Amino acid sequence: MARRRLLIVTGKGGVGKTSVTAAIAIAAARGGAKVLACEMDGSGRLAASLGSPPVGFEPSTIALDDTIAVDAMSMDTERALREYVRLFVKIPFADRVGSLARIFDYVADAAPGVREILAIGKVCHEVRRDNYDLVVVDAESTGHVVSQIDAPRAMSEFVHSGVIAEQTGWMSEILEDAERTGVVVVTVAEGLPVSETGELIDTITSRTGVSVASVIVNRVPEAGLDRDSVKALTSARDRGIPSAAAVLAAAERADRASGVLGDLLGVAGDGVAGAVLPEIDFADDEAMIAAGLAEQVEALVAHLTNDAGGADE
Ligand SMILES: Nc1ncnc2c1ncn2[C@@H]1O[C@H](COP(=O)(O)OP(=O)(O)OP(=O)(O)O)[C@@H](O)[C@H]1O
Ligand SMILES: [Mg+2]
Repeated sequence: MARRRLLIVTGKGGVGKTSVTAAIAIAAARGGAKVLACEMDGSGRLAASLGSPPVGFEPSTIALDDTIAVDAMSMDTERALREYVRLFVKIPFADRVGSLARIFDYVADAAPGVREILAIGKVCHEVRRDNYDLVVVDAESTGHVVSQIDAPRAMSEFVHSGVIAEQTGWMSEILEDAERTGVVVVTVAEGLPVSETGELIDTITSRTGVSVASVIVNRVPEAGLDRDSVKALTSARDRGIPSAAAVLAAAERADRASGVLGDLLGVAGDGVAGAVLPEIDFADDEAMIAAGLAEQVEALVAHLTNDAGGADE
């Protein structure tokens, strides 16, 4: 039974990856876990969702209230390279090697996968050194996540021995262990994102060694329109009343959500946990939205991270 230590949150742009990552981090911390939340895109949005000013590469502790805190970091591949060189290549003065930046740019541009492997390598390193119960990653979106999570394996196909093979070996071991690592795929219940999400799940499952642990349909409005209301609203919409169109669209999304989730879980296969998360109405306060979602993902997070609670797996 799985007790996941690394959750990688992905999905199409704008579907709520950052909000869900923050929500998972908050829920896990409330459940007593020591959590590191890591954003890959360096936008600073994850920290905002945790109610904090931007964080750097070194994990900062963000207090959620008087008793609960999470650590958060923002990926910086050059800093990751410096840390890597210091830890593994054992050059104690690596921090002072000024030209490392230029060498890095040269290598990263010349060899595809270098940035990806440094980023995912740093994440795996945090899992391996065991400072945290859970590392949750606000990962790249649909177009880039596969090359990121698959970077160690792709690299190992070219390099079979020596120090690089050794490094990609332990990274793949963590990433490909479904007991420890899982991808959380986020989508919304509308049109194109749904089919792209199905393709993403399929690609992750068939092309990488990393498992999908959960599928989340986000921003689902409260359902509950009876047939008469739908009729009245439809005629209002057809007379050009925008609020009626908005209410109808929300109701359609709500109706579609469970079907969408079912379809996507069908693509994902057995043992993948599904969840529907509501539209949270806090205007544009990212921290309030993440906190609201955190309550909604408590059971899911317990299921994904707690072997004792995995009876239904
Ligand atoms: N369940 C929700 N209810 C209400 N608003 C939400 C919900 N989930 C996300 N949002 C809002 O939608 C916007 C996009 O969400 P978020 O930034 O988490 O998406 P993202 O997938 O990380 O986007 P990007 O691809 O740009 O990184 C944000 O303003 C966020 O607050
Ligand atoms: Mg984001």
